[in-house]
Amino acid sequence: MQNLIKTGVEGLDSILNGGIAANSAVLVSGNPGTGKSIFGIQFLYEGVRRYGEKGIYVSFEESGSDIGEAAASVGFDEWDALSERGDIRVYDKREMLRGGDFTDAIDGLLDDLSDESYGRIVIDSLTMFQLFFDDEREKRTYLLKFVDILKENGLTSLLINEQGAVFPETEIGLENFLTDGNVYFIQTPTDSGVNRYIWVAKMRKQDIDTDIFPMEIGEGGITVHERAGGFSMMGRNGPVL
Ligand SMILES: Nc1ncnc2c1ncn2[C@@H]1O[C@H](COP(=O)(O)OP(=O)(O)OP(=O)(O)O)[C@@H](O)[C@H]1O
Ligand SMILES: [Mg+2]
Repeated sequence: MQNLIKTGVEGLDSILNGGIAANSAVLVSGNPGTGKSIFGIQFLYEGVRRYGEKGIYVSFEESGSDIGEAAASVGFDEWDALSERGDIRVYDKREMLRGGDFTDAIDGLLDDLSDESYGRIVIDSLTMFQLFFDDEREKRTYLLKFVDILKENGLTSLLINEQGAVFPETEIGLENFLTDGNVYFIQTPTDSGVNRYIWVAKMRKQDIDTDIFPMEIGEGGITVHERAGGFSMMGRNGPVL
């Protein structure tokens, strides 16, 4: 039987028929504020609390305290304690960008990956990670190698991507091909705030439900409602961003 890693978002684990295949790399895309980082935080937090799996959070954008505050905003009050204890290892912006030599920071991270028994990793974000390469070819080579190393070390990874949902006319980036799965977070404005949706567009080797489902962010993190959203990517007047 396939070994599945639960995301810690209950409705999502049902859509995935149990979770994400162990050792896979999943691309998590969406516009700003759609919940990508909260998803990454929840994946690691519930990973430790409910499933006893240690995790690593790599952020190029935020400090350790920003990440702790984001966790606290959805009631993950033990985040700081788990990170102090090493159950969740946080590589924050300061650590990743220290000394200006990004390759050194990644090498340090890779050393830690092979030493420790971590099961989950979140890279927030791949978009920032890619900015460190001037050359397209160097970037692709490094990304492929990096994803391979994550897998070789037994990690199930979420790679966060700052990008809206893919439409037919949009160029599909390399990262869509090198990952085993694609999850999109979508939000649409309403009079009183936003409506949020999640779409699992691809999950290799898994039988999944590819409808778009409504979700919410609040106390306890992300909740996915398992009724189809009545939402079309193309909308009535063309694509909905
Ligand atoms: N307790 C809460 N209740 C409701 N919404 C919340 C709560 N805590 C955070 N949010 C919402 O969650 C969203 C933040 O999500 P998150 O930071 O994960 O987005 P993101 O996709 O990572 O954005 P970015 O691309 O800017 O990093 C915000 O819209 C914020 O208002
Ligand atoms: Mg974010």
